[in-house]
Amino acid sequence: MITFDFKKYHYNEIEDTDLSDIKERFLKDKKMSGWYELDQSCVEAISSAASYIRNNCDVFLVIGIGGSYMGAKAVIDALSPYYGEKKLEILFAGYQLSSDYMADLIDYLQDKEVMVNVISKSGTTLEPAIAFDLILEFMEQKYGEDESSKRIFVTTDEKSGELLPLANQKGFQRFVVPDNIGGRFSVLTPVGLLPIAVADLSIKSLFAGALQAKENLEECYYYTMLRHELYNRNKVIESFDIYEPKLASFVEWLKQLFGESQGKEGKGIFPVSTINTRDLHSLGQYYQDGIDMIFSTTFFVHSDEDIYLEKYGKTLDTVNKLAMESVAQAHFEGHIPTSIITLDTISEENLGYLIFFFEMSAMLGSYLLKINYYDQPGVNGYKDILHRRIKEDE
Ligand code: PA5
Repeated sequence: MITFDFKKYHYNEIEDTDLSDIKERFLKDKKMSGWYELDQSCVEAISSAASYIRNNCDVFLVIGIGGSYMGAKAVIDALSPYYGEKKLEILFAGYQLSSDYMADLIDYLQDKEVMVNVISKSGTTLEPAIAFDLILEFMEQKYGEDESSKRIFVTTDEKSGELLPLANQKGFQRFVVPDNIGGRFSVLTPVGLLPIAVADLSIKSLFAGALQAKENLEECYYYTMLRHELYNRNKVIESFDIYEPKLASFVEWLKQLFGESQGKEGKGIFPVSTINTRDLHSLGQYYQDGIDMIFSTTFFVHSDEDIYLEKYGKTLDTVNKLAMESVAQAHFEGHIPTSIITLDTISEENLGYLIFFFEMSAMLGSYLLKINYYDQPGVNGYKDILHRRIKEDE
């Protein structure tokens, strides 16, 4: 269960929050609205590939960048224990260009049983393309071409991109990124679902949570209007604040979802995040006392662990909650309006709910800003220069 408090630590209430007309407009514009359908037709194929993968490797390497890996990582990290031997390790690559990272990774993989999922909708993104070239070479040296082809899974566009002919030529098993779903909205497609299923998490429960969110849009409408209203009052930074570090990758995903969807045409709220209580002892000073431009969306998760602190007469979970409430109170007094989203536990269902909730809000908020939520023209800036520079230096 998830509860939303959008009132206690806010200065104003939002009166008009019915965004159903925008939803209707969005549904008419069919171009990139595929994520809204929550199509589950791939679940069986994904589950069967996932169980084959789980039974045949120690390391599952996911190669992708941006929307092609962040959703899966968000869900897997949120639902994984902090410590302990893992039957199957899930690693990520292709989201930066570090030589040290690739060298260490390939070294680490030498004596492991490895399977790979390369994910790129366009099939042309430089970072995963380079990582995959290196990993393909490693796999073919380690296993030979035939065996490698059984160990590599490709998730890409159905009809275009450079990965497609390679996948067909080598006989890699292929999963499709639907044409009408953009990267950062693709967690609940094969992009996110295969790695999540390989981690032995329930993709059916993720969908169940997402469907619940789809049927209960009032809180999502309120949140969307609230952040739009705050933005109009010059609160241009939204801080996603967590008190459970397992959600660190989830808030990274949120930053990508909102940053890439709404930061365009000189508009948009800048998304940041903190891991608390750690960051209260660093950025906390700025939040409380710095320039007045921040609002907070705080996540609190109740812990199932019953750790009693004799000295304080309270459980550790209670102390953590008191810390979150104290921060909300102090920040509110320091002009930081704060919304609180409380999860009874971290589960697939709750994460599915939040994924749909925030995807919906990112889309609706973009309509309010009158911008296209599914493109990312700004990202091409660095790409164009880099491609030119790589050619020049040849
Ligand atoms: O959200 C997006 O569309 C982007 O973040 C993409 O996912 C990212 O650029 C990776 O693109 P691709 O999957 O085409 O390699």
